[in-house]
Amino acid sequence: MANHKRTLITSALPYANGPLHIGHLAGAYINADIYARFLRAKGEEVVFVCGSDEHGAAITIRAKLDGITPQEVVEKYHTTIKKAFDDFGISFDIYHRTSEPLHHETSQAFFKQLNATNKFIQKESQQYYDPEAEQFLADRYIKGTCPVCGNEDAYGDQCERCGSSLSPTELINPKSTLSNATPELRATSHWYFPLNDYEAWLKEWILEDHPNWKKNVYGQCKSWLENGLQPRAMTRDLDWGVKVPVEGANGKVLYVWLDAPIGYISATKQWAADHGKNWEDYWKSEDSRLLHFIGKDNIVFHCIIFPSLLKAHGGFVLPENVPANEFMNLEGRKISTSKNWAIWLHEYLEDLPGKEDELRYVLMANMPETKDSEFTWKDYQTRVNSELVATLGNFVNRVVVLTNKYFEGEVQAITGAELNEVDNNAVKELAEFAGKIDADLEEFRFRDALSTMMDIARLGNKYLGDREPWQLIKTNEAATANVLNIGLQIAANLAIAMQPFLPKAAGRLVAMLNLSETNWNQIGQAFVPGGHQIEKGGHLFSKIEDAVIEAQIQKLQGSIQEETPEVELKHPLKSTIEFDDFVKIDLRVGTICAATPVPKTDKLLMFTVDMGFEERTIISGVAKHFTPEDCVGKQVCVVANLAPRKMRGVESQGMILFAEDDEGKLIFVSPQAGTQNGSVVA
Ligand code: MF3
Ligand code: ZN
Repeated sequence: MANHKRTLITSALPYANGPLHIGHLAGAYINADIYARFLRAKGEEVVFVCGSDEHGAAITIRAKLDGITPQEVVEKYHTTIKKAFDDFGISFDIYHRTSEPLHHETSQAFFKQLNATNKFIQKESQQYYDPEAEQFLADRYIKGTCPVCGNEDAYGDQCERCGSSLSPTELINPKSTLSNATPELRATSHWYFPLNDYEAWLKEWILEDHPNWKKNVYGQCKSWLENGLQPRAMTRDLDWGVKVPVEGANGKVLYVWLDAPIGYISATKQWAADHGKNWEDYWKSEDSRLLHFIGKDNIVFHCIIFPSLLKAHGGFVLPENVPANEFMNLEGRKISTSKNWAIWLHEYLEDLPGKEDELRYVLMANMPETKDSEFTWKDYQTRVNSELVATLGNFVNRVVVLTNKYFEGEVQAITGAELNEVDNNAVKELAEFAGKIDADLEEFRFRDALSTMMDIARLGNKYLGDREPWQLIKTNEAATANVLNIGLQIAANLAIAMQPFLPKAAGRLVAMLNLSETNWNQIGQAFVPGGHQIEKGGHLFSKIEDAVIEAQIQKLQGSIQEETPEVELKHPLKSTIEFDDFVKIDLRVGTICAATPVPKTDKLLMFTVDMGFEERTIISGVAKHFTPEDCVGKQVCVVANLAPRKMRGVESQGMILFAEDDEGKLIFVSPQAGTQNGSVVA
């Protein structure tokens, strides 16, 4: 099969600036975990590394928002994130962090080597400086008006309204978010990596040598390469990060996107040191294979920038594949941390304890492998109840319970004479699963692999349904023994095939079936011997009730924090009313047949309105907007059942509707010309 001896799997280092949500798991962690578990199950040499990304403006901005130090931010979230990964069974061999001294040393050595071999260009440029805070400003610290769409809250690197990627000097009316001062341009010197010099090599390496990369990844790389690459600054003026290891570089740190991917190397070093291994086997040996699991926003860094840096440095293996996922949406909207539109992993576990595999399952089934996908609570409920409970769990439970009931938990040896065609076919179909999940996983088709795993359970269910051992036992015990034997072989296959996907449930099933040593290559085989004793049955999964789902939907809807709406509403939307409330209003068409100012006020006009069935007197506070002449003859909409009110001694018998424009100017709400007076508006 493979022409590699070992595999290094990396998952994107999450910023330690907030807790994890389902989008993280679905993007770069569950898939990597399935793959790592799969390789381990096959007995391959594999190391799976990750860690917290603790540098960059993502951290310092969070610190400012929370009113704590950057150090406190990373301590807090590193712990939360690590725990969530543990809870969901993400089987990293090491979860490191970029604040570790080993990482600082590793990334500084990497930088020094590039610097010493003239792989950088040192260049002076003009950058925004905050004269009050006395510091240069990271792009994210500058806000201003987007030159593309006019959004006044665009960031120095991006406008979140129109999605344009910007540079700070393009912003109109820039402001420092540190002090609100207007930043000024000052000269500063940085180390640039001339990415453009690597363009030709990248074209060959990606476009020609790796046409097998996923379409979404290959396509993004192609468009970056076609648009042409620019030199990229690899240092920043910031007081948080890995110090630039060159004399005279005071106050400068490595660009976070230089140091973070080197975090994969430092994590591997730490793991090797802890386990008496050699990290260079994974990074510097041609028979090692490197795989980066990431989300789509990280593609350029992992496919273009980091490989070029590795290439410039020399001596390192390059990624063999970067199976990036797209994004997962939630209940019809983009997941948003700032709007709190997310399912947070730690909250999920508080509300649904013990249901780690259930979430894994639904996230895998909807993994955004080739395009953005969607998580909904209803779908979660359906998948858990009809797939995990009714298909997988139910099958296993039936075989185990019946084997205990009829044969005291002992797997009966097959009586050949009693086998019929249905039995033989089931065994044959089971054999076809050998290598099937492998084929999907090797090409990173996780959804297909998961569904193949479920096909084993479907086969089992169908087989039991066809053979009905609970009926058969009444007439033929030997045939029943065969059926339960074959059922158990299918269940035992499931126990192995489930391992990469549903590790906790697989563990429960292995225990229930009392399987000691399982191995991936047993998939497809009837390997449980006659005489084998299994344990008592039990349910692998339990049903999710409607009330639980309703509560989650309520919680989500209730926790959303809308940012300032894109259009500032002069009149914010009123709260929702019921349809029954709305239909109480009787709206009618009428024509103004007379209009006079109300004496002793400059606000009110008194109208006589022909309603078709009667005439009404209506007083409105619109004298500033219309002269009586403007009004006579206008057809209007009237609230016809409004309780009469006395104004200036006159009874007003309804209300005329007006629209108000942005400037506060009023306009009659008029029906189409020729509408009959008295017509109902609804
Ligand atoms: N912290 C980055 C993010 O969340 C990912 C860093 S991946 C690494 O988008 F390669 F830099 F480590
Ligand atoms: Zn914009």
